[in-house]
Amino acid sequence: MRRRARLTAAVSAACAAVLIAAVPSAATGGATGLRNGIRSGVGAYEPDPYFPLAGNPGYDVQHYDLDLDFTPATHALVAQATITARAEDDLPRFTLDYSGPAIERIQVDGRPAAFRQDGQELTVVPHDPLARGREFTVRVDYRGTPGPLDDPALGVYGWINTDDGAVALNEPDGARTWYPVNDDIRDKATYTFRITVPEGVTALANGERQSERRAAGRTTATWAMNRPMSSYLAMVAIGKFRVDRGTVGGIPDITAVDPAGDGNLAALQTGTAAAVAFGERHFGRYPFGSVGGIVDRIGVDYALETQSRPVYDGRPDELTMVHEIAHQWYGDSVTPTTWRDIWLNEGFATYAEWLWQEEHGGPTAAETFDRLYATPAGDPFWELRTADPGRDDIFDYEAVYLRGAMFLQELRRTLGDPAFFELLHTWAERHRYGSVATCDLRQDAERIAGRDLGPLFHTWLYTETKPALTALAPH
Ligand code: TRP
Ligand code: ZN
Repeated sequence: MRRRARLTAAVSAACAAVLIAAVPSAATGGATGLRNGIRSGVGAYEPDPYFPLAGNPGYDVQHYDLDLDFTPATHALVAQATITARAEDDLPRFTLDYSGPAIERIQVDGRPAAFRQDGQELTVVPHDPLARGREFTVRVDYRGTPGPLDDPALGVYGWINTDDGAVALNEPDGARTWYPVNDDIRDKATYTFRITVPEGVTALANGERQSERRAAGRTTATWAMNRPMSSYLAMVAIGKFRVDRGTVGGIPDITAVDPAGDGNLAALQTGTAAAVAFGERHFGRYPFGSVGGIVDRIGVDYALETQSRPVYDGRPDELTMVHEIAHQWYGDSVTPTTWRDIWLNEGFATYAEWLWQEEHGGPTAAETFDRLYATPAGDPFWELRTADPGRDDIFDYEAVYLRGAMFLQELRRTLGDPAFFELLHTWAERHRYGSVATCDLRQDAERIAGRDLGPLFHTWLYTETKPALTALAPH
């Protein structure tokens, strides 16, 4: 679901031009744009500037059906992935992103297809070329023992085996460790997960559980995420879990903790519910059909805002739950078009923490801002551009999380509370399930403020120097 047409309709000409200009060589068919010999048809394919190998031209995925049979004792996976996609060009061949266990066979529309693997690129040659506009299915059968990526800058992610099972945490480009994928942050799709595990083991995923069946000492749970989801947010968690089912404002709240860990199921359930209620008040209607959280012992030392149900590595505190739940609006439903704009995720989720503290007897967001703003000019705190930190620094806590949130506080001070809180709602509502860039935020903010905010956006998001505070006109 790339929805190129909708994207262009939602993004003004100015915004689109900015996007293209910022990606050199792609539009002119540089090496990456034309890799695998696929000519881009209507509108050239733009690879992500930070992860140019993730994502593929020529088609748009609608749905992933992932059938996973996993045995924790051996960490062995037997899987079939069936991808439903629409050809956006005539395709004699196409590529998927994949670096998982050995592939046994591939079929396109039920007929055997030739394939070739070259690094993380999986090239598939269907029996008959696919005509532009055609909907097609690719079925990939694979088996073996998946494992994670370990990146010097980004840490451990992808398929992570644990003592009693496994957890998949894909951000940013780890989906390919456990299923063949168009790993383009813009290509959202719906998902079905059919997970078979030995009896006594629990399997969870994004969305809602549809059914659970027992046969021959194994249990198959089917989970469905029926709202568009970017591949970096797809998740499964397998292991021994205690599971609790509650509701918050009519939304099912499904939480799970590893009984051998330090998680507290009741605290997870109530903390999640409180964060959802807080989010609905400040950001608007919760975007998905269920919510929840999973606490496991993983060893990665971060939490991830996996769609509808974040995963925590050990017991989360209240602010961490607020952060991951805020991402459901900002990041999961409203998603950056490229990884360069990850501050749109992390700045907003961090600002949600500041707002929560302000409302719960902690420092106000303005006080938090002032404390950070005392950091002297020239300090490394002000290095890196918030809205273009570079591939290795997408999770830089100061440049992306804190300065992203500081910008939002400065925007709030500039707009005043009513306009700022209107913007928080408008941003979540107008771009629900969509893909956005910083210039879209600027447009929405300028529409609400009725004036040019260019310099404010520029100095806070695109410079590496401590910004001067905006002089406000006296009220
Ligand atoms: N996106 C996660 C969050 O802020 C954090 C995260 C994911 C992360 N992967 C990471 C942080 C790797 C540091 C390193 O909720
Ligand atoms: Zn975050």
